[in-house]
Amino acid sequence: MARSTRKNHPPPAFQPESAGAPSLGALRKEAESCERCDLYRNATQLVFGDGDTRARVVLVGEQPGNEEDLKGRPFVGPAGRVLDECLKEAGVDRSQCYVTNAVKHFKFEQRGKRRLHARPNGGEVQRCAWWLGAELRIVEPDLVVAMGATAFYALTGRASGVTKERGHVLLTPGGTRLLVTIHPSYLLRLRDRQEADRQHRAFVSDLHKIGEILGATT
Ligand code: URA
Repeated sequence: MARSTRKNHPPPAFQPESAGAPSLGALRKEAESCERCDLYRNATQLVFGDGDTRARVVLVGEQPGNEEDLKGRPFVGPAGRVLDECLKEAGVDRSQCYVTNAVKHFKFEQRGKRRLHARPNGGEVQRCAWWLGAELRIVEPDLVVAMGATAFYALTGRASGVTKERGHVLLTPGGTRLLVTIHPSYLLRLRDRQEADRQHRAFVSDLHKIGEILGATT
């Protein structure tokens, strides 16, 4: 297995120096000219968070994929279709969520005509947490959902632990509840049908907790 380039680090999304725009519109505008790391150089465009700006729940993924990079919106490609299907099964209305990524530009390796996803490293995640922290400060959700290891790292500073914490509710360093789950693209990579079905059900069960947690706090 490739060595992780991420080490436990103080939670980057909550560092006090993150961006300070007063609204999501203004924040997105600022982020469009972001050069905090090199990923903007090869990406087509910024893919900022999207959805209900007053949402009680914020879903955080890793980074835009190929389709998201071309369309400029998060989770509109294959992983987004899995997410939509599982949210629906879990009784969660995506239009009432704010959906974003830990990293806002597509990182890829060019192989012929194909652009293959490449995992953002620790420095890229930390730099981009400037924007994630600001998004969370403006939306002020009751619950954040970390989908996969990159989101978990951006939100907690922990370089591992998704498998152990999956389905659990933790607190972010800022005191917001944090539900931990897998990234939906994991389901696309499973080749064994029974395991894929099992993991699909487990992901839906994790997402179902969103309603339970929010319902318990109204
Ligand atoms: N994977 C992500 O983490 N985010 C997207 O927007 C698309 C795929």
